[in-house]
Amino acid sequence: MATYLVTGASRGLGLEFVRQLVGRGENVIATCRGDRSMSELDGLYDTHENLQVLELEVADDKSIAALGRQLDGLTIDVLINNAGVYGPRGAAIGQLEGDNWSEVMRVNCIAPILLAQTLLPNLREGAGKKLVFITSKMGSIADNRGGGSYAYRSSKSALNAAVKSLAVDLANDDFVSVALHPGWVRTDMGGPNAMIDATTSVSGMLQVIDRAGQAESGGFYGYDGAVIPW
Ligand SMILES: NC(=O)c1ccc[n+]([C@@H]2O[C@H](COP(=O)([O-])OP(=O)(O)OC[C@H]3O[C@@H](n4cnc5c(N)ncnc54)[C@H](OP(=O)(O)O)[C@@H]3O)[C@@H](O)[C@H]2O)c1
Repeated sequence: MATYLVTGASRGLGLEFVRQLVGRGENVIATCRGDRSMSELDGLYDTHENLQVLELEVADDKSIAALGRQLDGLTIDVLINNAGVYGPRGAAIGQLEGDNWSEVMRVNCIAPILLAQTLLPNLREGAGKKLVFITSKMGSIADNRGGGSYAYRSSKSALNAAVKSLAVDLANDDFVSVALHPGWVRTDMGGPNAMIDATTSVSGMLQVIDRAGQAESGGFYGYDGAVIPW
């Protein structure tokens, strides 16, 4: 039984990660913002002793530091940085705004790396030493044929670049850092017309995470294990 920390666990893929991980008996620390309904997560919490729910606003440095203090001394095997935002939909060139864009960069790129940095002491003590970042194929520059989505695409491309650096920097410490694309998934972000459900996406990603070793570190993979071009 390993210990997983999952961010953005109030709904969507984060909630599904928590559901599947507690279901297979792992210890799970689920984090979510305090100002949102957590009803489904609360339901899981009520029925699973292996689930702990803590508050984390990923865009707030103080909140990340507070979580670090709360978890001081606790071993974590796998960090799943899942929380993310899409930003303004349909904002085309001519309508872009810096404030919105900064917020998306903050949540999708800067926060996951700062959280990983804060929790490194916990992860160093673990046997897993896995740093997982839920990014997106929309961050693939090679795959960008549709254009648009400036904030979202650039935030995920930037996250990919940072994950690569982390993999290089921590390789000698036996860490495994991977960027994962969940597929186009029916969540609030993916919308009702997306191709797969959260159960399929998360069960696939967990297989990729379970198998990931040094050889996979620094790579960008789909939920089906396929390598995605940067
Ligand atoms: N769905 C897709 O098709 C798809 C495709 C590619 C990549 N992804 C990526 O997969 C991840 C999960 O997406 P999803 O589809 O599950 O999205 P979602 O349904 O919109 O859920 C997003 C989650 O992130 C949390 N979150 C957002 N901003 C936060 C903040 N500042 N602090 C803490 N938590 C925050 C949300 O919490 P609140 O409830 O408090 O807002 C929620 O739990 C994201 O990184 C997304 O970019 C999704």
